[in-house]
This record gives sequence, structure tokens and C-alpha cells, in this order.
Amino acid sequence: MARKLINLNVNGSAHETAVREYDVLLDVIRENLNLTGVKRGCDMGTCGCCTVLIDGRAKLSCLTLVLEGVGKEITTIEGLKSPVIHPLQRTFAEAGGSQCGFCTQGFIMTAKALLDENPRPSRDEIEEAISGNMCRCTGYIKIVDAIEMAAVKINGKQ
Ligand code: FES
Ligand code: FES
Repeated sequence: MARKLINLNVNGSAHETAVREYDVLLDVIRENLNLTGVKRGCDMGTCGCCTVLIDGRAKLSCLTLVLEGVGKEITTIEGLKSPVIHPLQRTFAEAGGSQCGFCTQGFIMTAKALLDENPRPSRDEIEEAISGNMCRCTGYIKIVDAIEMAAVKINGKQ
């Protein structure tokens, strides 16, 4: 199928890129835009490794057609580090919420969407929010700790 040029707004910058109608956002972000922080785990919507933000909401980029992203604000993990490291990135490191790191960007993007909507979530609310993200390494407790710590860093104690 022929490719057509589209404009994607990713991490605050406009990117003109050639895509096929059936391309998914994950492929275009990684292969066309070379933003490889976003990971392909299952390619089936079950692991959460490919999570990005679209207009502030956490979305699985492996299940999102790239054309659904046109006209939206897309944020990847690379977009969180500017101008300084995001508190979630710091607390995942401090709490031991990341080991091999393959799943980490997905958890962080999911947590970013949660904290933007709910600045002081309970542990139950954090567990519910990350229920679509899988980690083979940490056992999840340190991931919940990291998100709780980030909530305090960003929004202060209750
Ligand atoms: S790669 Fe998208 S959910 Fe696993
Ligand atoms: S840190 Fe290895 S899969 Fe989560």
C-alpha cells in the first residue's frame, strides 16, 4: 500500500512522516521517528510496554492506528525528561522499581497519566491504574512505592 505524508505532534514537536493507513503508532514512533524508549512487548495489548500518552491519556501504541494520533498531542518517555529528569524516573530508580527496565517506560507513562488526573492516589488506586502493565522482575511492590514517592515529590504530603 502506498504511503502518505502525515504530521504527528510528538513531545511538543511536529514531525512529518510517511505512513501506511494500517501502521500502528508504536511502529511509527520507533521506526520513523527513532524514539525507541517505547517498547514492543507482546504486540497484543496485554503487557503495557508500549504505553504512550495521547492528549494526556495512557494508550497502548501497539493497538492504536497512527492515523488516530493525527491532530493529537503524543508524549513518549523521551518527552518527560525535558528540561530535567521527571520525578517518576527518579523515584523508580530510588525505590528499585526498575530492574531490567524493559517494562519501565510503560509503567512511568501510565503513572504519569494517573498522577495528572489524581495527584494523591491510594495504593489501591495505583494498583488499579497499573493493572494493565506487566513486569517480570520487580514483583510490583517497589513500582507502587515509586509511584507513591513521586506523588509526594510532585504534589507534597497529604
Ligand atoms: S506491546 Fe502493546 S501492550 Fe504489549
Ligand atoms: S523491570 Fe524487568 S520486566 Fe519490569
